[in-house]
Amino acid sequence: MLVDGFGREVSQVRISLTDRCNFDCVYCHNEGLGDTRGPMDAQDHEMSADDVIRFLEVAEEFDIEKVKFTGGEPMLRDDLEEIIRRTPASITPSLTTNGSFLPDRANDLREAGLERVNVSQDALQPEEFKEITKSGAYNQVMDGVKAAVEAGLTPVKLNMVVFERTASYVPEMVDYVAENDGLRLQLIEFMPELVDEPEWAIDIERVHDWLTDRADRVEVREMHHRRRYFVNGGMVEIVDPVENGDFCANCHRVRVTHDGKLKGCLNRTDDLRSMGEMTKAEIRETFRETVANRVPYYGEYKVQTADGEWERNEKYVEAPLASD
Ligand code: 5AD
Repeated sequence: MLVDGFGREVSQVRISLTDRCNFDCVYCHNEGLGDTRGPMDAQDHEMSADDVIRFLEVAEEFDIEKVKFTGGEPMLRDDLEEIIRRTPASITPSLTTNGSFLPDRANDLREAGLERVNVSQDALQPEEFKEITKSGAYNQVMDGVKAAVEAGLTPVKLNMVVFERTASYVPEMVDYVAENDGLRLQLIEFMPELVDEPEWAIDIERVHDWLTDRADRVEVREMHHRRRYFVNGGMVEIVDPVENGDFCANCHRVRVTHDGKLKGCLNRTDDLRSMGEMTKAEIRETFRETVANRVPYYGEYKVQTADGEWERNEKYVEAPLASD
C-alpha cells in the first residue's frame, strides 16, 4: 500500500464517472470542481469503462481496498453495471447517488456485484426536498431507497448535508433511520470552500453535542476520525471536514475526476494529474506521484494564523500544475 509523506496510507479511491446530473442541489461542490455541469447527453471527455477498469487494475496492485463511484450522478451512465461487474475482485465497490434511478436498477447493481449504496437525502418532505435539490423526483428517491434495501445494498447510508436550510430536519432524519431497517444516516457538514456561500455554514459542534446527549454509544472511526453515534437503535455518523486538521490527518483517499485526472484532495484543484491515454505503466507512475504529493489540506496546505484564520501555507503558493 502506498503511503504519503505524512504517513497516510492510501486505501481507497473515489471515481467520478460523470459530471452530469439530473438534480441541481443548491449546495453541490461537484466533487471539488465547482459548477462544471454541461449537457445531459453522454460526453466525450468522460472516462470510458475501459479507462476506469485500467485504472482500477493499477489501484489493485497498490492494494486499494475500496472504490466509491460518484458523479455528478453516476447512474446516468448506462455502463455503470458493466463497470461494477469488471471491478477487480479485491476492491469492494460502493456508489453515491441521488437515488432517482434506483427503483429500476437496484437489483441489477446488486447482481453486478455492488455491495452498498449512499443516497443523498436532505429532507423527508417533498416540498423541502424540492427546494434543496431543484428536483421533483422525491417519490423516485423514496422508492429508490426502499429498492436498495430490498436488493440488499445495505446498509444504505443517507447522506444529508447539514447547513442553514436543513439543520432543523436533523431530528426527524435521526428518527427515520432508527425506525427503518437497513438505513444509516451520514450527516455531512456543509463545505463552503468550493461553493461560495459561507453564510450557509452552521456550527457542527452543536450537532455533535445534540447527538452526544441522546446516544447510547459513540465510536470513533479510523477513516477521517469520523464519530458515530448509536441513537435508539439507529446509527448516525458525522462527516466534519471543515477546518478540521484531525480529519485531514486521517484521510486515506485519492480521487479521480470524471475526465480521468487523479486528484489528491477534494478541496484542491491545483494538484490534478491527467491519466489521458496512458499505459498502465504510466498510470502506475502518475498514481505514485499523486500519492507522494498529497498533503493534509487543513494543518499543512492551509495553516492557522495566531488569530485563528486559515491561510495558504507559503510552501504551496507556486504555479499550479497543468491540469491537461
Ligand atoms: N458540502 C458537503 N457535502 C456536499 N456534497 C455535495 N456538495 C457538498 C457540500 N458543499 C455531498 C452530498 C452528496 C455527496 C456526493 O457529496 O452529500 O451526497
